[in-house]
This record gives sequence, C-alpha cells and structure tokens, in this order.
Amino acid sequence: MTDPLILGLESSCDDSAAALLRGRDVLASVVKGQGALHAAYGGVVPEIAARAHAERLDLCVEEALAEAGVALQDVDAIAVTAGPGLIGGVLSGVMLAKGLAAGLGKPLVGVNHLAGHALTPRLTDGLAFPYLMLLVSGGHCQFLTVRGPQDFSRLGGTIDDAPGEAFDKTARLLGLPQPGGPSVEAEALKGDETRFRFPRPLLDRPGCDLSFSGLKTALLRQRDQIVAPQGGLTRQDRADLCAGFQAAVRDVLAEKARRAISLYMDEQPASPALAVAGGVAANRALRGALETLCAETGLRFTAPPLALCTDNAAMIAYAGGELFAAGVTHGEPIVARPRWPL
Ligand code: KG4
Ligand code: ZN
Repeated sequence: MTDPLILGLESSCDDSAAALLRGRDVLASVVKGQGALHAAYGGVVPEIAARAHAERLDLCVEEALAEAGVALQDVDAIAVTAGPGLIGGVLSGVMLAKGLAAGLGKPLVGVNHLAGHALTPRLTDGLAFPYLMLLVSGGHCQFLTVRGPQDFSRLGGTIDDAPGEAFDKTARLLGLPQPGGPSVEAEALKGDETRFRFPRPLLDRPGCDLSFSGLKTALLRQRDQIVAPQGGLTRQDRADLCAGFQAAVRDVLAEKARRAISLYMDEQPASPALAVAGGVAANRALRGALETLCAETGLRFTAPPLALCTDNAAMIAYAGGELFAAGVTHGEPIVARPRWPL
C-alpha cells in the first residue's frame, strides 16, 4: 500500500508554507518568508503577518502542487499548524485547511508546531523513539524526550529568552545585520573568546533549565566599558565580543545537554540519539560541542538540513502523517451551514 499524500500548511509566525509528503518523501516544500514586510518595525507585526498569510497561503499550495506534479484532488489528508503561534496567522492556516478539507471531503488534523519541529528527525533520519531533542530557535529553547507523535516529556528549557533572540539582540547592540545568528557567528570566527568574561547562567543550579537574558546584559556592559574610553568599537573588539558571547551560549547549552542526556539514558533507549532543530542549530560552534558530547556519551547525533530545521510545512505534513497513522483526526470535514441553532 502506498502512503497517503498529505498536504501540510504552516502559518504560525512569519513564514507562510505549504508542503506535500508521501511517507518520508518530501514531494514539495514551499516557504514564503515575510522578513521584508516586518523589517522596518524591528519584529514581527501580528496584524501584518496575518494578512500576508491570508494572501500567500493559497499561492504556496498552488506552487507546492505544481512542484510535486499532483492535483489537489489527489491529496488524501490535510495537516495544519493549530498553534502555538500568532493567532491571526494560525487562523489563516486553519481556515484554509478547513475549507480545503470540506471541499475535498478529506480528513483534517491540527498539528502542534513544536511537535512538527520535534518529529522532524524521524522524517530526515528515521530516528527511532525515544530520542532526545534540543529545540533551539528564535522563539524556543527546550530539551524534550520524544517517545511518540503525542508523547513528549520536557526535561528543561529557557526561563526567559530563547538563544536565537539573544543572538539577534547581540547583533543589534553591535551594529551587525539581522538575523543576528549568522552575523555573530561569522564575527566570532575572527575573535578571541577568552578576552571578555561572560557568565555561564544557571550552571550552578541542578537541572536542565537555561537562561539567556543575563548574557545580553553582560554584552551591553562590556560594550559600554570599551566604548566609553575609546569612543567606539574596533573590528577586533566586535569580533572578540561575539566570540565571548557565542562561547557562553555554546557552553551552557552543552552542559545542560550533558545533564539532559543523563536523564534520557535512564530510560535505556534502544538506539540512543540526540537531535537538534531550530534556527540556532545552524551554529557550527554549538553543533561541534554537541557532536563531541554525543561521541563521548555514545549517542548518535543528528541535525536536520537547515531548510527543515527552520519553520516549514513539510514538518507539519510529516507530523500530521504520524498522527493519522496513530488514528488521530479532528472530526468530520467541516460542513458550512446557513443556520445552526444551539
Ligand atoms: O527556527 P527559526 O528560523 O525561527 C524562529 O525562531 O521562529 O530561528 C531563527 C533564529 C534567529 O534568531 C537567528 O538569529 C537564529 O535562529 N540563527 C542562528 C544561526 N542561524 C540562525 N543563531 C546562531 N547561529 C547561527 N548560525
Ligand atoms: Zn518554529
């Protein structure tokens, strides 16, 4: 029997996306980012995002169908991000998905966006349950034991900012371009990580929780101490600040990952593995530290390709497929009724 053809939709933040999957085969994955629409405001404007999703999701679906060479009628089921996220955007996706499911008479499933990220290593690497996941992005930072499509345990996470947010803020404070992660990483390559002292927040406390807001404050303080006497930053100052900041993020994530691994290994997984996902997973210093840790502790290390690490609809379609396989759907296709007395 061939796997069902699943259409996935994602619109929870500032990427409008549609994808078509059959099993682990990504037939098409279209992502339309909204960076330019929000650039002038210094962050995602929910109202603008919702309107842009409403305008673009249709187009994403059309492009995905063309890329995969299939017709809308061939779709067997629809999966849509039902949260968490900016509610206007989530609603745009859910409304389109409901309309398509009703029109086609096909089942619909609502997917948790974080479950989409957390299940991606099964799509890309076929990881067996249970595996350990570190989700690190601009909005999230958490360690999860992933035991099934609806079975996650949170081992710890950030108590304030996400690391991507801290990278973005660091770039802003140092006059580097956004998104901050790649520009801070590029500067850090030219810098000396030992010149400035950055704290290693929460390492003195047990458990897997993390904190990143103190690193931004430390960066601001160090920057101002240099700027005051000399009137500005040299290129080397900037590179050294980036290197020091990045090393602190790397070290706390690696140490907390070591603790998360020890908790996870208590479950005696058959094929122990650590997967990392989210935009910050692109960071080479972090990847290197996690790879070393996995080599030391006997875990397989995997990181999905970047296009599937950042927000996309293939992960939603894949998670939806796992939910369908587990027998989860969200009711009958919705029927529009002109009158509906309570
Ligand atoms: O998962 P993602 O695309 O989106 C959301 O968080 O919604 O992650 C984006 C974040 C940004 O904060 C960006 O600065 C960060 O991932 N990022 C990086 C790198 N590439 C992207 N952070 C550190 N190093 C990188 N190479
Ligand atoms: Zn995401």
